[in-house]
Amino acid sequence: MTDTLTPVLTDNWDADRAWTLASYEERGGYAALDKAFAMTPDDVISTVKDSGLRGRGGAGFPTGMKWGFIPQDNPRPKYLVVNADESEPGTCKDIPLMMASPHTLVEGVIVSSYAIRANTAFIYVRGEVLHVIRRLQRAVQEAYLAGHLGKNIHGSGYDLDLIVHAGAGAYICGEETALLEGLEGRRGQPRLRPPFPAVAGLYASPTVINNVESIASVPSIITNGAGWFAGMGTEKSNGFGIFSLSGHVTRPGQYEAPLGITLRELIDLAGGMREGHELKFWTPGGSSTPLLTPEHLDVPLDFESVGAAGSMLGTRALQLFDETTCVVRAVLRWTEFYKHESCGKCTPCREGTWWLTQTLARLEKGQGDEADLDLLLDQCDNILGRSFCALGDGATSPISSSIQHFRDEYLAHLTHGGCPFDPAASTAFA
Ligand code: NAI
Ligand code: SF4
Repeated sequence: MTDTLTPVLTDNWDADRAWTLASYEERGGYAALDKAFAMTPDDVISTVKDSGLRGRGGAGFPTGMKWGFIPQDNPRPKYLVVNADESEPGTCKDIPLMMASPHTLVEGVIVSSYAIRANTAFIYVRGEVLHVIRRLQRAVQEAYLAGHLGKNIHGSGYDLDLIVHAGAGAYICGEETALLEGLEGRRGQPRLRPPFPAVAGLYASPTVINNVESIASVPSIITNGAGWFAGMGTEKSNGFGIFSLSGHVTRPGQYEAPLGITLRELIDLAGGMREGHELKFWTPGGSSTPLLTPEHLDVPLDFESVGAAGSMLGTRALQLFDETTCVVRAVLRWTEFYKHESCGKCTPCREGTWWLTQTLARLEKGQGDEADLDLLLDQCDNILGRSFCALGDGATSPISSSIQHFRDEYLAHLTHGGCPFDPAASTAFA
């Protein structure tokens, strides 16, 4: 395993006015378009399939395979929708990417839309991040003026319109079918799947929905070839990805590296844990993925290995907490988030997340008893696998994994009659 960073998407983030068209073109931007247009759409899909690119939004579904599901004999229009509703706690890769290099995403949208034969594409971006929305709109405007978007792009005969759509700030709208509801102007709540969006998505038409980072990876794959991308990472988790490190680490930020790098290597690259402290627990892919501990420092951060360790790679949102952090308080904080963001459509999640916060708050204050731990696990059992979408399942992950790894710390709250930690010592939840 290598500890070398692979700056592809993050390359030039620090360049002067890196987000402008001039800067992007100076570093070879939009050259992948002509290469793609010289290929058939099916060849573009095959290239992405052969590269082994898997969805960077968290689920890791093979991107080329998803594109291949679009039924080309369906006479309805095809759509590409970029999921830029990045909201998973700890995840901060798509927003910096769009801020630093929006044209990488726009170029990826054009190549991907060409591959699936879509003539209209959308970027659905979180409503709260006005600065990102403005930057994307500017980039799209620049791309139109330069002939990278619109009619007969680069003289290829291919037309594409790209619309930047601002959401209204609900976490659930990152769920792809709730996103489609929002895009169609309705309340953001998930739809039943199947049918998957590839068959019946936006306006009941075949729709590919991909994460920002997935789509932004496409131009480099077209430029450098499938083998280049497949040659990085591990056997089944190919390529590179942006790992966002936050919390008690010396240099938090985005680190782009081959999949399969370990947390130990990433912590080294980030200057170590904050001085005088050591890692206590961490999330591999945001708070919806089960917590891991220092015993998992050498687990390769790829889809298979993190799964085998009892968690999920998810969005590669590595939140690191040192020994000053109360795990019960951290979990309570996340659970309050899920309660707030539950869309209310199904009972297990709507009611269950409320009950979880009640039980957790009692334990955190040292007012419960040991039976509350079983109650908490029972509440998780009644949500996991019984909710309409992944939000409910995700809400249980930090709870059940923290009880698995830190049961004694929950009990210490009971014997102590409250939180035994000094809240001033940890900056994690200040
Ligand atoms: P999923 O595994 O159900 O689906 C993944 C993708 O593959 C979807 O686009 C789906 O339409 C497609 N797909 C799956 N089976 C298919 C089939 N048979 N035919 C056609 N298409 C198919 O995962 P889901 O529920 O879409 O996403 C869950 C993930 O989202 C979690 O792993 C989590 O890490 C991530 N997540 C990311 C957030 C963020 O801010 N980036 C926020 C919350 C969760
Ligand atoms: Fe809504 Fe939660 Fe049910 Fe998902 S699991 S549909 S977010 S209530």
